[in-house]
Amino acid sequence: PSEPINVVVTGAAGQIAYSLLYQLAAGSVFGPNQPINLRLLDIPVMMTVLDGVIMELEDLALPLLREITPTTDPNVAFKNVAAAFLVGSMPRKEGMERKDLLAANAEIFKVQGKALDQHARKDVKVLVVGNPANTNAWICSHHAPSIPKENFTAMTRLDQNRAQAALAARLNVSVDKVKNVIIWGNHSSTQYPDAAHATVNVQGSTKPVPSVVNDDNWLNITFVEKIQKRGAAVISARKMSSAMSAAKAAGDHMRDWWIGTKPGEWVSMGVLSDGSYGIPRDIVFSFPVAIENGQYKIVQELQINDFARSKLSNTSKELEEERTEANNVLQNK
Ligand code: NAI
Repeated sequence: PSEPINVVVTGAAGQIAYSLLYQLAAGSVFGPNQPINLRLLDIPVMMTVLDGVIMELEDLALPLLREITPTTDPNVAFKNVAAAFLVGSMPRKEGMERKDLLAANAEIFKVQGKALDQHARKDVKVLVVGNPANTNAWICSHHAPSIPKENFTAMTRLDQNRAQAALAARLNVSVDKVKNVIIWGNHSSTQYPDAAHATVNVQGSTKPVPSVVNDDNWLNITFVEKIQKRGAAVISARKMSSAMSAAKAAGDHMRDWWIGTKPGEWVSMGVLSDGSYGIPRDIVFSFPVAIENGQYKIVQELQINDFARSKLSNTSKELEEERTEANNVLQNK
């Protein structure tokens, strides 16, 4: 049996963590043979709530779950971690601007970047879920210079899952028949959900989604807006942001990064731009990636038409603005 790995979840008393922790303990992320020690970071006022979460984790009676460490100290939480789920942050409330959110969260991700730098394994895989996720990942990696920049990723998998589900519903097939839909850019309303390269398996044969949908207006407008606004729609109905689906997406993201993607399939992850597709470098931008041996590679040479190009430049512009604002906030502290 393999040695346990240390896994940290921040915002451990929050609603996403509540669904995520079960997946981790059940082995659905790191595999059924990988025991884990959980480090649960939250802020002091949440420690009583966290005690309750820990009681429930114990009561799961799952054999892969070994030590559980609740803490308010990032220096304890990040010690020798192999994987980090950075979920904790101030969540977006109805009517709140992304700018306010960014200022509130820049400081948190600076502190956690430093703690990762000092205490985590150098091959730690970091997934930032807390919003604004892309820019938080960028801040975090800049404060962790001893850890390779490619180890910091931001979650756009929920957007990908939403897009895949919306296409499957439109085509009246089960969701596993739809593959390779892409989320480009920021996890925000400027993201570009792109079905141009997606495929659907109908009655045993694989076809391009655009030719089967056969409705450019729906694909370029209705579908794009539906995915861009899905998070807001959930908030307005539930009065709280997506949690069950966000936790499932976080598990999907980390599992694919850890275990790999299937041949010919790709997934979307916010990663540091290397200039692929003409996207400016040094922003955390969601690209399609294929993963092997724990390393992702940006899928290259996809055709980008003029419509897609304008969407990509729109979302990369927003990320450059967020980076500027983050720098301002951090310098004024
Ligand atoms: P929540 O409010 O239920 O939980 C957040 C937890 O983080 C709270 O327990 C809070 O005390 C804790 N926290 C705050 N500051 C902290 C710090 N400095 N260190 C450790 N913990 C801290 O929020 P929820 O619903 O779990 O969402 C978490 C984040 O995920 C939010 O920022 C939300 O906007 C984001 N999100 C991102 C998605 C994505 O697709 N990337 C999808 C859905 C949500």
